[in-house]
Amino acid sequence: MTAIRVNGKTHELQDVSEETPLLWVLRDHLGLTGTKYGCGISECGACTVHVDGQAVQSCVTLLSEIGDSEVTTIEGLSEDGSHPVQKAWKELNVPQCGYCQVGQLMMAAAMLKSTPNPSDDDIDAEMWNICRCGTYPRIRAAIKAAAKEMNQ
Ligand code: FES
Ligand code: FES
Repeated sequence: MTAIRVNGKTHELQDVSEETPLLWVLRDHLGLTGTKYGCGISECGACTVHVDGQAVQSCVTLLSEIGDSEVTTIEGLSEDGSHPVQKAWKELNVPQCGYCQVGQLMMAAAMLKSTPNPSDDDIDAEMWNICRCGTYPRIRAAIKAAAKEMNQ
């Protein structure tokens, strides 16, 4: 049996291989389906979660790599959608189809911890997630709005 810390709780995992990607542990074994599968090869960012506060692509992160680290998914970013990035995304109507947006939110939330006042260049450099719907201008605006709130 393996245990994993996710969103502040310890979960016991029965009969789950240590070689299972974190994405499938979250979705198939813990029912946390907010995290999405896109490419499976760390190229799109749809599966981004936080491991000890850092943005990580869960499709290429094995359960064996997690150890005692704390995993945070969109379900744990805030209990009620009150994280500044979630509020800004809603206020600016960022999503189109929505598929990529959880990964975008998790990447943005991690970025704002290390870069609290990002420039356009910072956002372009750190937000490499793909959006097939082309919501990039609204993502950039929402990150700036969230940064403003967080810096008040
Ligand atoms: S599904 Fe993980 S980066 Fe695309
Ligand atoms: S909102 Fe559709 S892929 Fe990004």
